[in-house]
Amino acid sequence: MTKFKQGWPLNLINVPASNPVLHGNKVYLCPPCLENFETWLDVRTRSKEFLIPFEPAWPSDALSFNFYKRRLNHQNQEVQAKHGAFFFIFDKQNDSLVGGINLNNMILGAAQHASLGYWLGETYQGKGYMTEAIYLIQNYAFNVLNLHRLNAACLSDNHQSIAVLKRCGFTEEGYAPKYLQINGQWQDHRLFGLVNSVR
Ligand SMILES: CC(C)(COP(=O)(O)OP(=O)(O)OC[C@H]1O[C@@H](n2cnc3c(N)ncnc32)[C@H](O)[C@@H]1OP(=O)(O)O)[C@@H](O)C(=O)NCCC(=O)NCCS
Repeated sequence: MTKFKQGWPLNLINVPASNPVLHGNKVYLCPPCLENFETWLDVRTRSKEFLIPFEPAWPSDALSFNFYKRRLNHQNQEVQAKHGAFFFIFDKQNDSLVGGINLNNMILGAAQHASLGYWLGETYQGKGYMTEAIYLIQNYAFNVLNLHRLNAACLSDNHQSIAVLKRCGFTEEGYAPKYLQINGQWQDHRLFGLVNSVR
């Protein structure tokens, strides 16, 4: 993986115009594309009731091709603007799409941080997929994008998400009342962070 040099002004001048495939032992992370629609639809349909309590309210067309295309267009714009990086997570053994992981709200300049977001299909829980996906995206964020910090926010009782963040080295930094609108309600969140100790 190419490592870019950093100069002043602090800026991600070398952020690539598209995101690469990131390879791990158990999973690989691949930028979403139109061809993934059917498998994405399958896992999101099977996991709908499981995921809804943890995500922004699903619109009425959340499982349609139109919604998928809108999302892809938005993500591509964010990548071009250097505001985000978006990946699906695939099982290396059988190429199943098992979930997604994103860097959102990427801010450059003196901040150089991004917010981590992720989900797994219901049947793919408890197998270590997300732990490895977070390590891969963290390596990409710190060693390729030159980010300085990753932020993550969890609902207070989202013990699985808190466990995976702690396993990946994130520390708890605070508590934000009514921080994000999840499942249609402004909800309190526990805040976590990981600082790039190398730069
Ligand atoms: C949050 C979420 C991604 C965590 O998923 P997860 O399956 O617990 O995380 P991992 O894939 O890293 O798997 C870790 C679990 O698998 C086990 N495991 C099995 N093999 C493993 C391996 N090779 N490596 C690491 N863990 C392994 C771990 O012991 C752990 O189980 P435990 O927490 O009971 O000890 C998932 O619960 C989810 O999608 N939730 C809904 C959406 C959501 O909450 N998103 C985040 C909003 S903040």
